[in-house]
This record gives sequence, C-alpha cells and structure tokens, in this order.
Amino acid sequence: MEKLEMLYEGKAKKVYKTDKDDRYIVEYKDDATAFNGLKKGSVHDKGVVNNKVSSIIFAILEEKGIPTHFISYLNEREQLVKAVEIVPVEVIIRNLATGSIIKRLGIEDGLVFKEPVLEFCYKNDDFNDPIINEYHAKAMNLATESELAKIKEYTFKINDMLIEFFKDKGLRLVDFKLEFGRYKGDIILSDEISPDTCRLWDIETNEKMDKDRFRKDLGNVEEAYKEVLQRLNI
Ligand code: C5P
Repeated sequence: MEKLEMLYEGKAKKVYKTDKDDRYIVEYKDDATAFNGLKKGSVHDKGVVNNKVSSIIFAILEEKGIPTHFISYLNEREQLVKAVEIVPVEVIIRNLATGSIIKRLGIEDGLVFKEPVLEFCYKNDDFNDPIINEYHAKAMNLATESELAKIKEYTFKINDMLIEFFKDKGLRLVDFKLEFGRYKGDIILSDEISPDTCRLWDIETNEKMDKDRFRKDLGNVEEAYKEVLQRLNI
C-alpha cells in the first residue's frame, strides 16, 4: 500500500490517502492539546502508545462483532484503516461523573451513575463541540435516525465490553468518547480509543491514568500512558 498526500491533520493524528480509494493511513502524533486547543504540548511517545492501545482495542471489538475502520497495525505510528466519512457527532459515554458534566450539572465528582449516560456533541471546534440531542443531529442533517440508532446500540455494547476488559487490567473505565464513520452504506466505529479519549482510573488507588494528567498538570503523563499499554499487553 502506497502512502499518498495528507488529507487532514487533526490535533493528535494525520490522515493520508493511499493508492487504494477505500483505504487511509492514520499517523499518530505526540502533540497533546486540551480545552479545545487552548493548552498545547507534547508527550514523548504518546503517538506510539496510542497507536498500539487503539489497535489492540479495535481488534478486540471487531472480533466481538463491532464493525470498525481498523484493518491493520502498520508500524509504531501508523495504522491502515477503511476510508470513512466521519459523522460529525461525537459520542460520549459516562459511567462515573467527572470532567465537564460535574461543572455543567453540579454533581459530585466520582458519583457512580445508576446507568451509563450517553451524550452527543456537535463536532465543531469553532463552537467547542457543543452538546446536542438527537433532534439537533437529525434537524441539522448530521446523522439520520437509523444511523443514530446504530451509533447508540454500538456505543452501549462497546461500553459493556470495555468496562470488563479494563477491569481485568485493574482499570476503571470512567468515561470515553467515540466517533463513527460512514463506509459503503454502513456505520462503523472510527477514530481511536486510547488514554487520550478515555478516562481510566486505577481500580485500587483511583490514580488517573489518562489525559487528565496532561489537562491538570499532574505530571508523569508519559509514564501513565505507558503503564496502560503495559497492562493491556499482559
Ligand atoms: O471533558 P469531558 O468530561 O466532557 O470528557 C468526557 C470524555 O470524553 C473524556 O474521556 C474525554 O477524554 C473524552 N473527550 C475526547 N475528546 C473531546 C472531548 C472529550 O476524547 N473532544
């Protein structure tokens, strides 16, 4: 597969065309941003770790019946993926309350929700990815009713699978963000699942093992990401 011109550069990844119309190459960068780009930095080897972590998780989800864009791990920083059209709706699922929801709703940090909370956000940096509901998504033509139904079905299934998966590795899956894409008429899981897009707390100590270490200047960001990868490999 030949890597051709860059199609898109995001905050943490670059996407390249290939000589096959239905394949992209995704390259993971070490750049780190938070608060919609207001805080910028770099975490040594973050791209290498996230590429590995996301490859492991996507392969497991695919095996368990979730259709994904993941085809293969190419090298330390690159993956071969299906060329999707990203649905401009970010999906957040929360098992425990922390982050933006506690500021928005005034609830206690660490509260365990009675059931997972699913949120949709409009993927739009200019407006800080505002929270929307299904009516906005449909009315603004971001996704159809049947696409949203599939997205919700897959998201809850992924949450159930990943809660157990991370529990086995001594990690609590607090919340995470997913993105989906359109590919040959289907909705498939896209983007990444990594310590950049999940909150993961050590089950014993509640230590944060994710991007909150960067967001809140907690230190040892690289070490925490590497620890997550190491636990996944066991
Ligand atoms: O900041 P907030 O509490 O809304 O984040 C919820 C979850 O979604 C966190 O795991 C965070 O890492 C993830 N997220 C993300 N990309 C965004 C917004 C949130 O990966 N643009």
